[in-house]
Amino acid sequence: MKLLIGSTNTGKVHEYGILLADADVEVVGLADVGLGDMDVEENGTTFEENAIIKAKAYAQASGLAALADDSGICVDALDGRPGLYSARYGGAGLDNAGRRRKLLGELEAVPDEKRGAEFVCVIAVALPDGDTVHLAEGICRGSIAQTESTGISGFGYDPVFIPEGYDRTFADISDDEKNELSHRGRAAKKIIATLNQLAAR
Ligand code: IMP
Repeated sequence: MKLLIGSTNTGKVHEYGILLADADVEVVGLADVGLGDMDVEENGTTFEENAIIKAKAYAQASGLAALADDSGICVDALDGRPGLYSARYGGAGLDNAGRRRKLLGELEAVPDEKRGAEFVCVIAVALPDGDTVHLAEGICRGSIAQTESTGISGFGYDPVFIPEGYDRTFADISDDEKNELSHRGRAAKKIIATLNQLAAR
């Protein structure tokens, strides 16, 4: 079964290529099916709603099973912000580095023991019939570093997120190590059995 990864985020697409390598699916990207420019408006109010909106839109446009995730970083000291709005945090003028700087600035006076945070990922797999959707959630607890790491792995907020039990950020560990404990890795592990069942039908 072909599975379309419905995301324009190259960091996510790279991770799914590895995470789903052993699933019984042939992973294809948006550009492979002529949808390289297709962005979907995320107007839901939860990670789950947004993941479903994206997966359904890509499945219907491609005629293939499509996997989309909605993910973000929820910071305890900011009452869960930026959360659902992680990709848009600080407005359209900021790039990833600007968003990380804004986050560290907001937490400037917050001591280590209050810098708890978690990454959340909800995966939705939609079939082109427009109705069938399968969901899986993964959470990774950790904390926000005092300063940005110079590590170059990963994407987005990785250089400022230290997973629980580590003293390095996601940007300082290998892809395999991140995938083992990350929100996306945890959600992907849960959805693989479903993907294999769909592929066997
Ligand atoms: P969305 O799921 O497309 O709404 O975007 C989620 C945003 O959350 C990304 O653009 C990143 O800023 C952030 N994010 C989600 N997962 C990760 C991750 O694994 N590492 C770093 N940042 C992430």
